[in-house]
Amino acid sequence: MTQPVICDYEGSRYRDDFWPGREYEDAAERIALRHLLPTQGRALVEIGAGFGRLADLYRGYDRVVLVDYARSQLGQARERLGNDQRLVYVAADIYRLPLADSAYDTAVTVRVLHHLKEVPSALAEVHRILAPQGTYVLEYANKRNLKEILRYMLGRSRKRPFSLEPSEFAPLNFNFHPAYIDQQLRRAGFRISKELAVSHFRLGLLKRLVPAPTLARLDGWLQGPAAPWKLSPSIFIAAIAEKLARPQPDALFQCPFDRRGTLIEANNRLRCPICGREWTAQEGIYDLRI
Ligand SMILES: C[S@@+](CC[C@H](N)C(=O)[O-])C[C@H]1O[C@@H](n2cnc3c(N)ncnc32)[C@H](O)[C@@H]1O
Repeated sequence: MTQPVICDYEGSRYRDDFWPGREYEDAAERIALRHLLPTQGRALVEIGAGFGRLADLYRGYDRVVLVDYARSQLGQARERLGNDQRLVYVAADIYRLPLADSAYDTAVTVRVLHHLKEVPSALAEVHRILAPQGTYVLEYANKRNLKEILRYMLGRSRKRPFSLEPSEFAPLNFNFHPAYIDQQLRRAGFRISKELAVSHFRLGLLKRLVPAPTLARLDGWLQGPAAPWKLSPSIFIAAIAEKLARPQPDALFQCPFDRRGTLIEANNRLRCPICGREWTAQEGIYDLRI
């Protein structure tokens, strides 16, 4: 497979430019994650973790691997989260994860799928690294949301909310039809265990009038009951990796070059016993991009 183009956030001001004024969305997403995430486990990986906005939700895990393609985002995450020994920062690509097969209890992607041109390839990678019956908690941008349906019906938008194919509304920014994501998850070997409809009140006027915690609480009450209709702009899913039972390996990382050797971790170094390559954490970040 030729590597798909990546939406690279290197050097971006995502935290400082995007998040101010979005306290409601942040709080609503946290409510959804608290419902869907298994509370504890041996290893969790968040892929496309950005500046580590959600990392405080992973306290019940022995090891937490924060993966992002952009080193600068991981640098901000490390600054925010400090030197917590449970955390490992890894620069890597979701299409080619340097993570060992079946090693993770839980994988998370929030606000990441909408940057992926090749969703099936990314889902196959997430499935590969999850333990049998491991949980994948994902979020995607829903093209068939109420606002888009109304805009389309009133002739204000030409984007077709009911068509199954992903809609690229800006370069490397995609909205997805719920049926498309469900289908791709099943094809990749997942069983959908729970879905939540999130961020119903993402409207400027409402956000100005109602305090963010109140709006988020209302959203939290709706997330489960409104899930069957999926009319919100953001959908969260917990999906279970179905695969043959096998022991969970101790090693968390895999050589990105030979894709076979599990990497040996010692003294802030990772080493591949097969090809002999070594990686040192630079400013606390392993760069396993190739
Ligand atoms: C919109 S941000 C979301 C960050 C974080 N999940 C959050 O919700 O705050 C998307 C992140 O995905 C990362 N990303 C995009 N494509 C990626 C890829 N192919 N592999 C790994 N990370 C990727 C970007 O670098 C960016 O940090």
